[in-house]
Amino acid sequence: MEAEERSDFFRDKILMAPMAMGGNLPYRRLCREYGAVLTCSEMVLSDKLVRGGERPLIRHHDSEEDFGIQIAGKRPEVMAEAARIAVDAGAHFIDLNFGCPIDLIVRRGQGAALLKRPKKLAEVVAAVRAAVDVPLSLKLRLGYSAEKKNCVDLALRAQEAGADAVVIHGRTRAQRYRLSADWTLIDEAARQLEIPVIGNGDLLTPWDLRRRRQETTVSSFLVARGALIKPWIFREFLDDEPGLPTVAERWAMMRRYADFALEYFGDDEKGTSRVERFFLWHLGFWHRFYPWTREDWQRQHPDSLLQARTPGVGDDPDLQLLASPDEDDHARIWQRIQAQDFPGA
Ligand SMILES: Cc1cc2nc3c(=O)[nH]c(=O)nc-3n(C[C@H](O)[C@H](O)[C@H](O)COP(=O)(O)O)c2cc1C
Repeated sequence: MEAEERSDFFRDKILMAPMAMGGNLPYRRLCREYGAVLTCSEMVLSDKLVRGGERPLIRHHDSEEDFGIQIAGKRPEVMAEAARIAVDAGAHFIDLNFGCPIDLIVRRGQGAALLKRPKKLAEVVAAVRAAVDVPLSLKLRLGYSAEKKNCVDLALRAQEAGADAVVIHGRTRAQRYRLSADWTLIDEAARQLEIPVIGNGDLLTPWDLRRRRQETTVSSFLVARGALIKPWIFREFLDDEPGLPTVAERWAMMRRYADFALEYFGDDEKGTSRVERFFLWHLGFWHRFYPWTREDWQRQHPDSLLQARTPGVGDDPDLQLLASPDEDDHARIWQRIQAQDFPGA
Protein backbone atom coordinates (compact mmCIF):
# COMPACT_ATOMS: atom_id res chain seq x y z
CA MET A 1 0.00 0.00 0.00
CA GLU A 2 1.28 3.47 -0.90
CA ALA A 3 1.79 6.00 1.91
CA GLU A 4 -0.95 8.28 0.59
CA GLU A 5 -3.46 5.45 0.41
CA ARG A 6 -2.56 4.43 3.94
CA SER A 7 -3.15 7.89 5.37
CA ASP A 8 -6.36 8.28 3.32
CA PHE A 9 -7.58 5.19 5.13
CA PHE A 10 -7.91 7.38 8.27
CA ARG A 11 -9.16 10.58 6.60
CA ASP A 12 -12.68 11.91 7.39
CA LYS A 13 -13.53 8.88 9.47
CA ILE A 14 -15.20 8.17 12.78
CA LEU A 15 -13.42 5.42 14.66
CA MET A 16 -14.51 3.25 17.54
CA ALA A 17 -11.79 3.61 20.17
CA PRO A 18 -9.63 0.79 21.46
CA MET A 19 -11.12 -0.08 24.83
CA ALA A 20 -10.05 -2.72 27.32
CA MET A 21 -13.12 -4.82 28.15
CA GLY A 22 -15.52 -2.46 26.32
CA GLY A 23 -14.05 -3.22 22.90
CA ASN A 24 -14.88 -6.91 23.09
CA LEU A 25 -15.65 -8.57 19.77
CA PRO A 26 -19.44 -8.86 20.20
CA TYR A 27 -19.69 -5.21 21.22
CA ARG A 28 -17.64 -4.09 18.24
CA ARG A 29 -19.92 -6.16 16.04
CA LEU A 30 -22.90 -4.31 17.53
CA CYS A 31 -21.28 -0.90 16.97
CA ARG A 32 -20.40 -1.93 13.45
CA GLU A 33 -24.13 -2.53 12.80
CA TYR A 34 -24.75 0.99 14.03
CA GLY A 35 -22.28 2.40 11.54
CA ALA A 36 -18.84 2.19 13.19
CA VAL A 37 -16.58 2.01 10.17
CA LEU A 38 -13.19 1.50 11.80
CA THR A 39 -13.08 -0.75 14.83
CA CYS A 40 -10.13 -1.64 17.02
CA SER A 41 -9.05 -4.36 19.42
CA GLU A 42 -8.48 -3.79 23.09
CA MET A 43 -4.91 -2.96 24.05
CA VAL A 44 -2.67 -5.98 23.47
CA LEU A 45 0.68 -6.26 25.23
CA SER A 46 3.40 -6.84 22.64
CA ASP A 47 5.63 -8.91 24.91
CA LYS A 48 2.76 -11.28 25.68
CA LEU A 49 1.70 -11.44 22.05
CA VAL A 50 5.14 -12.51 20.85
CA ARG A 51 5.19 -15.22 23.52
CA GLY A 52 1.97 -16.69 22.15
CA GLY A 53 -0.49 -15.00 24.52
CA GLU A 54 -3.32 -12.49 24.01
CA ARG A 55 -4.81 -14.54 21.17
CA PRO A 56 -8.51 -14.00 22.02
CA LEU A 57 -7.92 -10.23 21.94
CA ILE A 58 -6.75 -10.17 18.33
CA ARG A 59 -9.74 -11.93 16.79
CA HIS A 60 -12.29 -9.98 14.82
CA HIS A 61 -15.72 -10.60 13.36
CA ASP A 62 -16.20 -10.96 9.58
CA SER A 63 -18.31 -7.80 9.54
CA GLU A 64 -15.33 -5.75 10.77
CA GLU A 65 -13.94 -4.82 7.39
CA ASP A 66 -11.52 -2.24 8.74
CA PHE A 67 -10.26 -3.70 11.96
CA GLY A 68 -7.17 -2.54 13.84
CA ILE A 69 -5.12 -4.21 16.52
CA GLN A 70 -3.66 -1.95 19.16
CA ILE A 71 -0.32 -2.96 20.61
CA ALA A 72 1.55 -1.55 23.58
CA GLY A 73 5.22 -1.90 24.46
CA LYS A 74 8.51 -0.08 24.44
CA ARG A 75 10.97 -2.38 22.68
CA PRO A 76 11.09 -1.60 18.96
CA GLU A 77 11.95 -5.16 17.86
CA VAL A 78 9.23 -6.70 20.03
CA MET A 79 6.67 -4.17 18.81
CA ALA A 80 7.68 -4.91 15.20
CA GLU A 81 7.25 -8.65 15.75
CA ALA A 82 3.92 -8.07 17.51
CA ALA A 83 2.72 -5.98 14.56
CA ARG A 84 3.65 -8.78 12.14
CA ILE A 85 1.67 -11.27 14.24
CA ALA A 86 -1.26 -8.86 14.31
CA VAL A 87 -1.26 -8.47 10.53
CA ASP A 88 -1.02 -12.25 10.08
CA ALA A 89 -4.03 -12.54 12.38
CA GLY A 90 -6.01 -10.30 10.01
CA ALA A 91 -5.48 -6.74 11.25
CA HIS A 92 -6.23 -4.18 8.55
CA PHE A 93 -4.40 -1.53 10.50
CA ILE A 94 -2.12 -1.28 13.52
CA ASP A 95 -2.45 1.25 16.32
CA LEU A 96 0.36 1.87 18.80
CA ASN A 97 -0.60 2.68 22.36
CA PHE A 98 1.30 5.62 23.84
CA GLY A 99 -1.52 6.82 26.04
CA CYS A 100 -2.36 4.14 28.58
CA PRO A 101 -2.16 5.86 31.99
CA ILE A 102 -2.39 2.73 34.18
CA ASP A 103 0.38 2.63 36.81
CA LEU A 104 1.34 -0.96 36.11
CA ILE A 105 1.91 -0.23 32.42
CA VAL A 106 3.61 3.14 32.93
CA ARG A 107 5.95 1.70 35.59
CA ARG A 108 7.14 -0.80 32.98
CA GLY A 109 7.96 2.10 30.67
CA GLN A 110 5.06 1.34 28.31
CA GLY A 111 1.89 3.23 27.26
CA ALA A 112 1.95 6.88 28.37
CA ALA A 113 5.51 6.48 29.73
CA LEU A 114 6.71 6.83 26.12
CA LEU A 115 5.27 10.37 26.02
CA LYS A 116 8.35 11.30 28.04
CA ARG A 117 10.73 9.57 25.62
CA PRO A 118 10.22 11.17 22.18
CA LYS A 119 13.22 9.44 20.58
CA LYS A 120 12.22 6.01 21.83
CA LEU A 121 8.65 6.60 20.69
CA ALA A 122 9.87 7.47 17.19
CA GLU A 123 12.09 4.37 17.17
CA VAL A 124 9.10 2.19 17.97
CA VAL A 125 7.07 3.81 15.18
CA ALA A 126 9.93 3.37 12.69
CA ALA A 127 10.45 -0.29 13.63
CA VAL A 128 6.76 -1.11 13.21
CA ARG A 129 6.64 0.89 9.95
CA ALA A 130 9.50 -1.18 8.58
CA ALA A 131 7.80 -4.43 9.66
CA VAL A 132 4.32 -3.99 8.20
CA ASP A 133 2.72 -2.47 5.14
CA VAL A 134 -0.79 -1.81 6.53
CA PRO A 135 -2.00 1.63 7.71
CA LEU A 136 -0.30 2.59 10.97
CA SER A 137 -1.68 4.93 13.61
CA LEU A 138 -0.59 5.76 17.11
CA LYS A 139 -2.47 7.07 20.09
CA LEU A 140 -1.13 9.90 22.23
CA ARG A 141 -2.35 12.05 25.05
CA LEU A 142 -1.59 15.81 25.15
CA GLY A 143 1.53 14.94 27.08
CA TYR A 144 2.57 13.36 30.33
CA SER A 145 1.55 16.25 32.57
CA ALA A 146 0.30 19.85 32.37
CA GLU A 147 3.93 21.04 32.29
CA LYS A 148 4.86 18.67 29.45
CA LYS A 149 2.23 18.93 26.75
CA ASN A 150 4.45 17.79 23.90
CA CYS A 151 1.93 16.00 21.67
CA VAL A 152 2.54 18.26 18.65
CA ASP A 153 6.26 17.49 18.73
CA LEU A 154 5.58 13.76 19.25
CA ALA A 155 3.08 13.72 16.40
CA LEU A 156 5.58 15.40 14.03
CA ARG A 157 8.24 12.87 15.00
CA ALA A 158 5.82 10.01 14.46
CA GLN A 159 4.91 11.35 11.02
CA GLU A 160 8.61 11.55 10.21
CA ALA A 161 9.06 7.96 11.40
CA GLY A 162 6.40 6.72 8.99
CA ALA A 163 3.07 6.82 10.83
CA ASP A 164 -0.05 7.27 8.69
CA ALA A 165 -2.26 8.95 11.32
CA VAL A 166 -2.08 10.19 14.91
CA VAL A 167 -4.86 9.97 17.47
CA ILE A 168 -4.67 12.57 20.22
CA HIS A 169 -6.76 12.28 23.38
CA GLY A 170 -7.15 15.82 24.74
CA ARG A 171 -5.95 15.07 28.24
CA THR A 172 -2.58 14.47 29.89
CA ARG A 173 -1.55 11.24 31.56
CA ALA A 174 -1.55 12.91 34.97
CA GLN A 175 -5.07 14.17 34.35
CA ARG A 176 -6.54 10.72 33.64
CA TYR A 177 -10.23 11.61 33.11
CA ARG A 178 -10.46 14.81 35.15
CA LEU A 179 -11.78 18.00 33.48
CA SER A 180 -13.09 18.20 29.95
CA ALA A 181 -10.83 17.31 27.05
CA ASP A 182 -8.86 20.23 25.59
CA TRP A 183 -8.82 20.24 21.79
CA THR A 184 -6.47 23.23 21.32
CA LEU A 185 -3.32 21.17 20.81
CA ILE A 186 -5.21 18.54 18.83
CA ASP A 187 -6.10 21.31 16.39
CA GLU A 188 -2.54 22.64 16.45
CA ALA A 189 -1.25 19.19 15.51
CA ALA A 190 -3.87 18.87 12.76
CA ARG A 191 -2.68 22.19 11.30
CA GLN A 192 0.97 21.16 11.33
CA LEU A 193 0.78 17.56 10.15
CA GLU A 194 0.22 16.25 6.65
CA ILE A 195 -1.15 12.93 7.84
CA PRO A 196 -4.60 12.94 9.48
CA VAL A 197 -4.87 13.83 13.15
CA ILE A 198 -7.75 12.00 14.80
CA GLY A 199 -9.35 13.99 17.61
CA ASN A 200 -10.48 12.23 20.76
CA GLY A 201 -12.15 13.30 23.96
CA ASP A 202 -15.70 13.80 25.21
CA LEU A 203 -17.67 13.30 22.01
CA LEU A 204 -21.15 12.32 23.16
CA THR A 205 -23.70 14.14 20.99
CA PRO A 206 -23.96 15.33 17.39
CA TRP A 207 -23.48 18.87 18.72
CA ASP A 208 -20.10 17.93 20.16
CA LEU A 209 -19.03 16.63 16.80
CA ARG A 210 -20.41 19.66 14.95
CA ARG A 211 -18.60 21.98 17.36
CA ARG A 212 -15.24 20.25 16.89
CA ARG A 213 -15.71 20.26 13.12
CA GLN A 214 -16.48 23.99 13.17
CA GLU A 215 -13.87 25.12 15.68
CA THR A 216 -10.94 22.97 14.55
CA THR A 217 -9.39 21.64 11.35
CA VAL A 218 -9.76 18.07 12.62
CA SER A 219 -11.81 15.84 10.32
CA SER A 220 -11.40 12.37 11.85
CA PHE A 221 -12.68 11.45 15.28
CA LEU A 222 -12.41 8.64 17.77
CA VAL A 223 -15.19 7.79 20.21
CA ALA A 224 -14.85 5.74 23.39
CA ARG A 225 -17.26 6.30 26.30
CA GLY A 226 -19.95 7.70 24.00
CA ALA A 227 -19.98 4.34 22.21
CA LEU A 228 -20.22 2.46 25.49
CA ILE A 229 -23.16 4.59 26.68
CA LYS A 230 -24.97 4.44 23.31
CA PRO A 231 -23.65 2.14 20.59
CA TRP A 232 -25.93 3.92 18.09
CA ILE A 233 -23.72 7.03 18.45
CA PHE A 234 -22.09 6.14 15.13
CA ARG A 235 -25.48 6.40 13.38
CA GLU A 236 -26.09 9.74 15.14
CA PHE A 237 -22.77 11.04 13.91
CA LEU A 238 -23.36 9.87 10.36
CA ASP A 239 -26.86 11.39 10.33
CA ASP A 240 -25.89 14.49 12.36
CA GLU A 241 -29.01 13.94 14.47
CA PRO A 242 -29.57 12.69 18.01
CA GLY A 243 -30.72 9.08 18.18
CA LEU A 244 -33.75 8.77 20.44
CA PRO A 245 -34.49 5.06 20.77
CA THR A 246 -37.71 3.91 22.43
CA VAL A 247 -37.60 1.73 25.54
CA ALA A 248 -38.35 -1.31 23.35
CA GLU A 249 -35.50 -0.41 21.00
CA ARG A 250 -33.10 -0.14 23.92
CA TRP A 251 -34.09 -3.60 25.15
CA ALA A 252 -33.72 -4.92 21.61
CA MET A 253 -30.19 -3.45 21.46
CA MET A 254 -29.27 -5.22 24.71
CA ARG A 255 -30.76 -8.50 23.50
CA ARG A 256 -28.81 -8.19 20.28
CA TYR A 257 -25.59 -7.71 22.21
CA ALA A 258 -26.42 -10.76 24.33
CA ASP A 259 -27.04 -12.80 21.16
CA PHE A 260 -23.72 -11.74 19.64
CA ALA A 261 -21.93 -12.47 22.91
CA LEU A 262 -23.58 -15.90 23.29
CA GLU A 263 -22.62 -16.71 19.73
CA TYR A 264 -19.04 -15.73 20.45
CA PHE A 265 -18.50 -17.10 23.96
CA GLY A 266 -20.88 -20.05 23.63
CA ASP A 267 -24.28 -20.65 25.24
CA ASP A 268 -23.15 -23.45 27.55
CA GLU A 269 -22.75 -22.77 31.27
CA LYS A 270 -19.23 -21.40 30.98
CA GLY A 271 -20.02 -19.23 27.96
CA THR A 272 -23.22 -17.89 29.51
CA SER A 273 -21.46 -16.87 32.69
CA ARG A 274 -18.87 -14.96 30.66
CA VAL A 275 -21.63 -13.26 28.70
CA GLU A 276 -23.29 -12.33 31.98
CA ARG A 277 -20.07 -10.76 33.22
CA PHE A 278 -19.70 -8.66 30.06
CA PHE A 279 -23.40 -7.79 29.95
CA LEU A 280 -23.38 -6.50 33.53
CA TRP A 281 -20.21 -4.55 32.80
CA HIS A 282 -21.86 -2.90 29.80
CA LEU A 283 -24.91 -1.97 31.89
CA GLY A 284 -22.49 0.16 33.93
CA PHE A 285 -22.34 2.40 30.82
CA TRP A 286 -25.73 1.79 29.18
CA HIS A 287 -27.60 3.00 32.24
CA ARG A 288 -25.98 6.43 31.83
CA PHE A 289 -27.89 7.07 28.59
CA TYR A 290 -30.22 10.06 28.64
CA PRO A 291 -31.97 11.62 25.62
CA TRP A 292 -29.87 14.77 25.87
CA THR A 293 -31.29 17.78 24.04
CA ARG A 294 -29.50 20.65 22.42
CA GLU A 295 -30.56 22.76 25.42
CA ASP A 296 -28.91 20.28 27.85
CA TRP A 297 -25.79 20.51 25.75
CA GLN A 298 -25.84 24.30 25.62
CA ARG A 299 -26.36 24.55 29.36
CA GLN A 300 -23.24 22.49 29.97
CA HIS A 301 -21.21 24.15 27.22
CA PRO A 302 -18.24 24.46 26.91
CA ASP A 303 -17.72 21.55 29.31
CA SER A 304 -18.68 18.08 28.23
CA LEU A 305 -21.93 16.38 29.19
CA LEU A 306 -19.70 13.44 30.09
CA GLN A 307 -18.49 15.51 33.04
CA ALA A 308 -22.04 16.32 34.14
CA ARG A 309 -24.43 14.18 36.13
CA THR A 310 -27.02 12.51 33.96
CA PRO A 311 -30.43 14.12 34.69
CA GLY A 312 -33.21 12.08 36.30
CA VAL A 313 -35.61 10.30 33.94
CA GLY A 314 -38.88 10.99 35.81
CA ASP A 315 -41.50 8.53 37.09
CA ASP A 316 -41.76 6.06 34.23
CA PRO A 317 -40.75 2.69 35.79
CA ASP A 318 -39.47 1.33 32.44
CA LEU A 319 -37.16 4.30 32.01
CA GLN A 320 -36.18 4.23 35.67
CA LEU A 321 -35.07 0.62 35.45
CA LEU A 322 -32.90 1.29 32.39
CA ALA A 323 -31.35 4.34 34.08
CA SER A 324 -30.65 2.61 37.38
CA PRO A 325 -27.02 2.39 38.55
CA ASP A 326 -28.04 -0.31 41.04
CA GLU A 327 -26.43 -3.73 40.60
CA ASP A 328 -29.59 -5.55 41.68
CA ASP A 329 -31.47 -3.79 38.89
CA HIS A 330 -28.73 -4.78 36.46
CA ALA A 331 -29.11 -8.39 37.53
CA ARG A 332 -32.87 -8.05 36.99
CA ILE A 333 -32.33 -6.69 33.49
CA TRP A 334 -30.01 -9.59 32.66
CA GLN A 335 -32.61 -12.10 33.89
CA ARG A 336 -35.31 -10.48 31.80
CA ILE A 337 -33.04 -10.46 28.74
CA GLN A 338 -32.49 -14.19 29.16
CA ALA A 339 -36.19 -14.87 29.72
CA GLN A 340 -37.18 -12.68 26.73
CA ASP A 341 -39.35 -10.77 29.20
CA PHE A 342 -39.14 -7.18 28.01
CA PRO A 343 -41.18 -4.61 26.01
CA GLY A 344 -41.28 -5.55 22.35
CA ALA A 345 -39.91 -9.08 22.84
C1 LIG B 1 -13.41 1.23 29.45
C2 LIG B 1 -12.30 1.92 28.71
C3 LIG B 1 -11.20 1.21 28.27
C4 LIG B 1 -10.17 1.83 27.56
N1 LIG B 1 -9.13 1.09 27.09
C5 LIG B 1 -8.22 1.66 26.25
C6 LIG B 1 -7.26 0.86 25.57
O1 LIG B 1 -7.20 -0.37 25.71
N2 LIG B 1 -6.37 1.51 24.75
C7 LIG B 1 -6.41 2.87 24.57
O2 LIG B 1 -5.60 3.42 23.81
N3 LIG B 1 -7.32 3.64 25.19
C8 LIG B 1 -8.24 3.06 26.01
N4 LIG B 1 -9.22 3.84 26.59
C9 LIG B 1 -9.23 5.30 26.32
C10 LIG B 1 -10.14 5.65 25.14
O3 LIG B 1 -9.71 5.03 23.97
C11 LIG B 1 -10.23 7.17 24.92
O4 LIG B 1 -8.97 7.66 24.58
C12 LIG B 1 -10.73 7.93 26.14
O5 LIG B 1 -11.78 7.24 26.79
C13 LIG B 1 -11.24 9.33 25.76
O6 LIG B 1 -12.28 9.24 24.82
P1 LIG B 1 -13.84 9.48 25.22
O7 LIG B 1 -13.92 10.83 25.83
O8 LIG B 1 -14.59 9.35 23.92
O9 LIG B 1 -14.19 8.42 26.22
C14 LIG B 1 -10.23 3.22 27.31
C15 LIG B 1 -11.34 3.94 27.77
C16 LIG B 1 -12.36 3.31 28.44
C17 LIG B 1 -13.57 4.12 28.90
